[in-house]
Amino acid sequence: MSVDTHDQTLANIDDAIRTERDPERAMRRVVEVLKHQMPHYTWVGIYLLEGDELVLGPFLGKPSPHTRIRIGSGICGAAARERETIIVDDVNADSRYLACSLETKSEIVVPIMSGARVVGEIDIDSDQPAAFGDGDKRLLESVASLLAPVIGSSA
Ligand code: SME
Repeated sequence: MSVDTHDQTLANIDDAIRTERDPERAMRRVVEVLKHQMPHYTWVGIYLLEGDELVLGPFLGKPSPHTRIRIGSGICGAAARERETIIVDDVNADSRYLACSLETKSEIVVPIMSGARVVGEIDIDSDQPAAFGDGDKRLLESVASLLAPVIGSSA
C-alpha cells in the first residue's frame, strides 16, 4: 500500500475523530475507515482495557469468540503486556495465537497508549499471509496516538 494511501487514511481518521464527539461513535468510524480503505485488512477491531482484560469494542468482520482477553493471553494479550506492536506473518505458526477465523493468515496488534499505560489495542487480521509491514505499523501507531485521548475520555 502506498504512502499516499496511508496519508489519506490517516487524514480521514483524524477528520473522523475531530468531528465525532461521542467516543463509541468515533471508534466505530475509525474501524470503518481502516476496513474500507485498506483492502488487506479483513477483520478490524478495537479492544479496550478493563482491569486486566481486553474487552472487544467496535469491530468489522466476522464475529470473534474472543470478546474478553486476559493480559498475557493470545497475541493481543502479549502486545498489551509488552506494550509493543506485534506483527505475526503466519498465525498458525505462533503458539500464542487465539483463532478468530479459519481464513486468518496474519495479524497485527497495536497497543493504544496513554503515557506509559495501555488503554486499548487496535487488532487487525488478514486473510493474506504476511500482510503487514512497516508501513502498516507506522500508520496504525499514528492511529493509536489519535485514539488515545478518545479512549481516555470514554474510560
Ligand atoms: N487473534 C487474537 C484474538 C483476537 S481475534 O483475532 C479477533 C489473539 O491471538 O490474541
